[in-house]
Amino acid sequence: MKITIIGTGYVGLVTGACLAELGNDVFCLDVDQRKIDILNAGGIPIHEPGLEEVVRRNSAAGRLKFSTNVEASVAHGDIQFIAVGTPPDEDGSADLQYVLAAARNIGKYMTGFKVVVDKSTVPVGTADKVRTVIAQELSSRQHELPFSVVSNPEFLKEGAAVEDFMRPDRIVIGCDSTSEGERARDLMRKLYAPFNRNHERTYWMDVRSAEFTKYAANAMLATRISFMNELANLADHVGADIDAVRHGIGSDPRIGHSFLYAGCGYGGSCFPKDVQALERTAQEYSLNLQILQAVEAVNNQQKQVLGNKITQRFGKNLTGRHFAVWGLAFKPNTDDMRAAPSRVLLGELLRAGATVAVYDPVAIDEAKRVLELDFYDAPELLTAVRYANNPMDALDGADALAIVTEWKAFRSPDFDKVKSSLKQPVIFDGRNLYDPSVMREIGVEYYGIGRSVLAKA
Ligand SMILES: NC(=O)c1ccc[n+]([C@@H]2O[C@H](COP(=O)([O-])OP(=O)(O)OC[C@H]3O[C@@H](n4cnc5c(N)ncnc54)[C@H](O)[C@@H]3O)[C@@H](O)[C@H]2O)c1
Repeated sequence: MKITIIGTGYVGLVTGACLAELGNDVFCLDVDQRKIDILNAGGIPIHEPGLEEVVRRNSAAGRLKFSTNVEASVAHGDIQFIAVGTPPDEDGSADLQYVLAAARNIGKYMTGFKVVVDKSTVPVGTADKVRTVIAQELSSRQHELPFSVVSNPEFLKEGAAVEDFMRPDRIVIGCDSTSEGERARDLMRKLYAPFNRNHERTYWMDVRSAEFTKYAANAMLATRISFMNELANLADHVGADIDAVRHGIGSDPRIGHSFLYAGCGYGGSCFPKDVQALERTAQEYSLNLQILQAVEAVNNQQKQVLGNKITQRFGKNLTGRHFAVWGLAFKPNTDDMRAAPSRVLLGELLRAGATVAVYDPVAIDEAKRVLELDFYDAPELLTAVRYANNPMDALDGADALAIVTEWKAFRSPDFDKVKSSLKQPVIFDGRNLYDPSVMREIGVEYYGIGRSVLAKA
């Protein structure tokens, strides 16, 4: 099938590459010439495990093309996926300017039936806005062409995006019941048929419910994290181990084990903005989503938990102190640093006068870029950041180690080396990677999240 992907970012590139892998003829459009140049030169602008091979294989086979040519992109695909960003606007609502610009271009250049698929995460009612914009463009050209707007939210996880796209838990598709909607449903069914061979994974619904499903999923996952973080903070006070509690409750099938890890807060491009956007949607209907307001507030506080533990231990003025930080990306297996907890910690440490040595397996370049933005008001503080080449290199002479991202490489370090490299063996573990009793045995002063049971014992 002929597919156009509008927006060649994390979601668009993975969607385009994976649909090409299944034999479709895919045209990826982006307005960012730099990204398109990298892709056309055989490179890849993001870190995503397994993606490079899929892109390379399908580009070589001629099934995957990258371009900034809008007119050609509209001409190419019978199905036009909109996968552009929907960042938070100033008031927290989803900024739809990129989605609507993409829709406008489709209306401007289409010459026959198109299925327009909202794959970006967009608030309930966006498909109507997309439909209106396309209809306006068509009418300004005095054209009457059939089209249908479909909602097909994406559930892939960065760091496992190719695997998630190729083996989805579910595919959610919202279509309307007009004749164009029926036509769109047939095309979408055909496109996704290879994913449903083993068993049917597609949930068909109306457009608004599909739009809502994506927000409901992210809001639920964010809620579980903030819930556990809040309990972890209490566990620290009462002397309980949140990890034991996690096992104790996760074994209940009504609760399950996933997404119950306490830590130093969630980040990324999705949870923070989607929770906010859902709150904003509710406000438009004069409703307050009280649980989600709390989820957001707890998470904002939780991003400060490592900084607070460090200043409790070393004092508020950190001048002359030096810290090692392991992990900058908002989660493992990605270089994405949008809303990453590491940015909050680095802000706290540097503004309190400390120097830092940071290490991340893939996010160093991205870190350099985003830290310039974070410290636009005090660029001189960035001279206090050293980018280390490996985890052990970061530890050299540090007063303590802070772990922010749970990369696999940090799980079983050589603790003898860790201890001898640090000035004193102090670890602030923002992802609860280590066992507090083992840390005590080997003489590490250990601060986890919600794990102070042994300190109290
Ligand atoms: N990143 C994720 O893990 C994830 C998962 C599920 C859903 N989503 C949602 O998918 C959407 C895209 O997210 P992302 O992380 O891929 O964003 P991204 O910022 O990585 O990519 C968006 C791309 O769209 C391009 N773009 C903007 N306007 C354009 C236009 N008019 N025409 C062509 N290209 C244009 C940008 O240059 C950019 O390359 C968002 O709504 C996001 O919430 C993201």
